[in-house]
Amino acid sequence: MGKSKEILGIDVGGSGIKGAIVDVSNGELLTERLRVDTPQPATPKAMTSAFKDLLDKFNYKGDVIGVGFPAIVRRGVALSAANIHEDWIGTSISKLWGKASKKKVYALNDADAAGMSSVSFGRAKKEDGVVIFLTIGTGIGSAMFVDGTLVPNTELGHFYMPNGVKSEHHASSKTRKENDLSWEEWAARFDEVLAQVERLFSPDLILLGGGASKKFDLYSHLLHTEAKVLPSALMNEAGTVGAALYAYQRAKK
Ligand code: BGC
Repeated sequence: MGKSKEILGIDVGGSGIKGAIVDVSNGELLTERLRVDTPQPATPKAMTSAFKDLLDKFNYKGDVIGVGFPAIVRRGVALSAANIHEDWIGTSISKLWGKASKKKVYALNDADAAGMSSVSFGRAKKEDGVVIFLTIGTGIGSAMFVDGTLVPNTELGHFYMPNGVKSEHHASSKTRKENDLSWEEWAARFDEVLAQVERLFSPDLILLGGGASKKFDLYSHLLHTEAKVLPSALMNEAGTVGAALYAYQRAKK
């Protein structure tokens, strides 16, 4: 098991569940990235059936599947549920989706997955020191690396800003859209989030992923961190690639 380097990676998000077969030796996608909608409410039952629908679109012959999941994930079990149904808390993604797919499923936090692909194949490849990867989407996800090693489940979207609001509610893409904020207004808020992140961790590099990272040129001049801030070069596929890579590494052990 785990010898093949062609692994199905799945990225579970607040609005869509996306997957592709990935060559984990170079991070390249071997198939198109396919997608199903994330059901609402996003209960374990409804999401398992969406996961199966996505799986049916692939003729995947491998033994292992990697899943990036939008929650704290420890040993394959979801331990939080900010943007999915609370019934996920305490549910083993590995067991539930392992049974549904008859494959070995390795799950990790979605932002940790996306960060892993940047560290292995993308912009943070040669970076040592503290690298913080932030995904800006429905929530704010985070991945922290110290000399290339992941510190999992950092959840930097969930600390409280000085105004008492959670950082992801202060400056996610969802917040920007719901409050009709201009890029300037949103960037001012996001800059405040980065200031807190910097105060806490003094990172050497901050990488941005998720929807808002594609518009980096619109607001990069409005950010004032000491650390270098860059958009992740891998963009959309980062979570899928990282999930596949994680499964490969875990299956090898
Ligand atoms: C969740 C994180 C997730 C992030 C991005 C947050 O609300 O708590 O686990 O990584 O959203 O999906």
